Order: sequence, then C-alpha cells, then structure tokens
Amino acid sequence: MRLDRLLARLDVSSRSSCRELLRAGRVKVNGEAKSDPAFAVPEGAEVTLDGKRLDTRLTRHLIMNKPAGVLTAKEDRFQQTVMDLLPKVYATLECMPVGRLDRDTTGLLLLTTDGDLAHRLISPARHVDKVYEARVDGTLTDGDVAAFAAGIPLKDFTALPARLEILAPDRGRVTVQEGKYHQVKRMFGAVGKPVLALRRVSFGPLKLDSALSEGEFRELDQEEAAALYAAAGMNHE
Ligand code: URA
Repeated sequence: MRLDRLLARLDVSSRSSCRELLRAGRVKVNGEAKSDPAFAVPEGAEVTLDGKRLDTRLTRHLIMNKPAGVLTAKEDRFQQTVMDLLPKVYATLECMPVGRLDRDTTGLLLLTTDGDLAHRLISPARHVDKVYEARVDGTLTDGDVAAFAAGIPLKDFTALPARLEILAPDRGRVTVQEGKYHQVKRMFGAVGKPVLALRRVSFGPLKLDSALSEGEFRELDQEEAAALYAAAGMNHE
C-alpha cells in the first residue's frame, strides 16, 4: 500500500498533510526515512513516526459491551452511535458492527474491518448462536420453553426453534441463530411476556467479557479471532 494512503488509513494524517511529515523525514519504514508519498510499504514493514512504531494492522476485530441509548450504526446525524465510542482510527479502517443490537439493548457487540467475516457471521445459513438474557414483564413457564423450541410464528415469518432457559420467574436466557429485526423481543412478546431489558451475552464462540464495563471495548486476541473465523467457515492465517 502507498505510504500516504497507509498513514491516512491509520488516522495519522490526511494524505495532504502527510507530505509534510514525509518531507521532514519524520516517517521511517524499516528504519529508513521515506519522503515519497507513493512509496510502496512492504507487507509487515515496521513504520515509525517520530521514532514511535505505528500499529499498521489494517484488519481489526473488536468486542464491545454496548451500553443502552447508543445506535448500532456506522454513523448517524442526530444520535450517538457505537462508532462514536471508539477512537477515530477504527472508522478510518472501516471497522463496522456485525449485525445490530437495538438502541436499548446492551451487551456483546462485535465489530470488524473484515466485511466477508461480518457477512458470514450474520448469515442465517451459518447457524451462529447468539445468546441473550432478557428480563420480562410476566412469569416464564415451561409452556414458553416449549413454544420457543417449536419455533414461534410471528407476523412475517416463523422463528427457527430456539432454546429458552428460565433463570428466574421473570428472567430467561435464549439462544437464537437468526437476527431478524427485534426478533428476541418479538418472540417474548408473542408468548405474552414483553421484554423489559435485553442483553446479549455471547455471539458464536465469544462471551461477553466481564472485565468490560458498558461502553468499553477491546481488540480480540489471536485465539478469539481464530475461533470466530472458524465459526464463519473461513481460513484465518
Ligand atoms: N433481538 C431483539 O429484539 N433486539 C436486539 O437488540 C437483538 C435481538
């Protein structure tokens, strides 16, 4: 990749002000100052700015504990989005949310720069489990467990069979493999137990990290990333 493009993608500088950095000899590639914006940076090269090594990875995967009141969207003119909770470099790297949590839903949100991975993880054909904990208005029963297991008919489609575990009279843990609009809320609504609060606790092989407070995020480690690619049926080098 061209050096000026790389620096812009890493949110170091715009492509125009990059020229000044380069002219001043502040950017080195593998220890050598480079002044040509079009210099082709070799894969895996060490790039420094003022002697400080830049994190040049263009592929990133994040896990966020999404707070309530924030939109799952890349951007919005009026409301705060999950991207607003991240350093700007993730937006310039085109990191995007995988699937969607409602504005009032909290918990595990995955974000990635890998569009293919995102696409596969949300495809219903992949059957990736998503686990939610819900607090409902009403008392959950074995009949609800059976209804979820049978597949709940909704207005526009019938939900795939889902596992409901009763954690407390008004709290359930549900495992679904689809992610249609308001799906979990609609499923509980269909059995007459409207959802009062919803939190996603796992997504495929990933669990909500108890070290992450709401609004916090971290990058996935190698092992987690590999498990995610495996869940998507993709090779991960
Ligand atoms: N199902 C819902 O109803 N809402 C969410 O945010 C996620 C799944």
